Amino acid sequence: MASGEAAVVRAVDRDEIPDLLKHVEPLLHVERDYYDVVASRVYAELLSHYQYRFQDQYVLAVQVDGELAAIVNGRQVTPNLGLSLHTLALRRGLRIGAHAFAAKMEYHFDQLGHDEVLVVAESPIGFRRWMIEYKLEKRFDVPHELGGVPSWALTRELFDAARSSLVVGRRPVPPEILDKATEAILPPSDPPTPALDPLSATRSKYDPTASALMVERWAMEEGVQDA
Ligand SMILES: CC(C)(COP(=O)(O)OP(=O)(O)OC[C@H]1O[C@@H](n2cnc3c(N)ncnc32)[C@H](O)[C@@H]1OP(=O)(O)O)[C@@H](O)C(=O)NCCC(=O)NCCS
Repeated sequence: MASGEAAVVRAVDRDEIPDLLKHVEPLLHVERDYYDVVASRVYAELLSHYQYRFQDQYVLAVQVDGELAAIVNGRQVTPNLGLSLHTLALRRGLRIGAHAFAAKMEYHFDQLGHDEVLVVAESPIGFRRWMIEYKLEKRFDVPHELGGVPSWALTRELFDAARSSLVVGRRPVPPEILDKATEAILPPSDPPTPALDPLSATRSKYDPTASALMVERWAMEEGVQDA
């Protein structure tokens, strides 16, 4: 990564899912950048996968020195068609999410042999990272499994065109680094946390003047003075 640290991307076994769930749960309460929406969906998908209630899902984890840094998942729809579920970065500012997405797409094309992967963005950052950086094609006649919204597609041609710039890393992972990652999924050291002040969550909520939250806060402050 840009920080000089090595990140390992690896498949997560079903019995490791509880080790991920405990670090996804706190993100349910992070309104910023749609972490709450994405984390709640990821939580449901991982739990369903753990309890054999999800069809053909895979889960990959990104770890830095054992610490959980990102989670990606997806599934196979048909032997030729993949579907991207989620990308969740637990450490910000290093393009860990972007690398995780590249790794999952490589998994779709090179390991699972898909010709195309259906993708959707749940956040503006996601839209910049996937639709714009990879120049995804529209498949608006296909509702995506996430919320039924129109799909976008990463084709094998588009992925091949992106390989030299967006897909990085060494394969296979050197054994000593892989051993450290598989030994234990350690807690993220600097995960996204809920905003101290609700105002900072408004930039993703179509409430740029934050009037709703300010009114709410004034009411709370008045309540305190009365007490
Ligand atoms: C989308 C996501 C996976 C991208 O991860 P990433 O590639 O590691 O990128 P980051 O989130 O760290 O940074 C995104 C932008 O915010 C900026 N940023 C950096 N640190 C940040 C921080 N602490 N808080 C907020 N933004 C930060 C970055 O500079 C970056 O700007 P750029 O797009 O101009 O490069 C990640 O933002 C995420 O998990 N978001 C919540 C869930 C989500 O939306 N998933 C994708 C659904 S389609």
